Amino acid sequence: MKIFVDSANLVEIEEALRRGFPAGITTNPSLMSKEDRTDFKLHIKRIIKLCERYDRRIPLSVEVFTADPKAMVKQATEFVAEFGEYEGLNVKVPIGWDELAVIRELKTRGIRVNCTCCMSFNQAIMASAAGADFVSLFYGRIRDIGYDARSVVESVHRVFKERSVPSEIIVGSIRHICDINDAFMAGADIVTVPPQFFRQMVSHPKTDEAENQFLNDFKKWSPPVRRAGAVTERFARAHVVRSVASSRALPTIFGNYSVRSGIFMFEADNGRKLWHYKSSQRTGGN
Ligand code: E4P
Repeated sequence: MKIFVDSANLVEIEEALRRGFPAGITTNPSLMSKEDRTDFKLHIKRIIKLCERYDRRIPLSVEVFTADPKAMVKQATEFVAEFGEYEGLNVKVPIGWDELAVIRELKTRGIRVNCTCCMSFNQAIMASAAGADFVSLFYGRIRDIGYDARSVVESVHRVFKERSVPSEIIVGSIRHICDINDAFMAGADIVTVPPQFFRQMVSHPKTDEAENQFLNDFKKWSPPVRRAGAVTERFARAHVVRSVASSRALPTIFGNYSVRSGIFMFEADNGRKLWHYKSSQRTGGN
């Protein structure tokens, strides 16, 4: 069960890589088109550099951007020439009659293939039979036309498992957070997730409630942290009581405290005077 990042955005990809969870990255021409216009190859190389910087040589799908099968093979060969040093590279080829020949050709050249845009059981079976390493099923788009995306994923998973088909099922086209859960429950090996869902995947109001309660309970119980900043009157009085002989000398604490050269300094309003105290003794005033 693996999570891929469905994005071509460098910031989003890096944010995910920093958190260690991505097992792969999928791009497509539409995702590329959302980025600042630049040289396509340069952009892919930047993604590769990010993966290397985080020491994650994970699968990276780069999609052909032509409908002509011959040109697809040419582009795939160019991708390998440009990015082939990166061992995670795989070329995304859409499913189709002529495209099956493209998949076959790329496989004979030792190029890993992600067969994309699959919407049905039959397409997935054909893609894997032609040798695709990954078969991408488009969850949201299958549902757009009224089909049950979950049952498509379930059927493909069942057959791949029963027949020991080596292709991995990627579920993409995620539109809701529940699509991710459904796809995994249906047997997806991989779900490629648009980054806007990642935060949501780790958030829960009861988690926030529990965490806040733990922090607040601990704060009330533990001794105050000695660092520069604003103090509550209760906090400051507790220290001043210890630092002067008579509690009657206690000023009304209203201000800040700070630590300078190891001296714990309070600012206090005592009549018009400001007093400074060390943590254990009075050190001066004006
Ligand atoms: C991933 O590999 C696909 O290209 C992507 O998930 C498609 O998503 P969309 O249907 O939102 O375009």
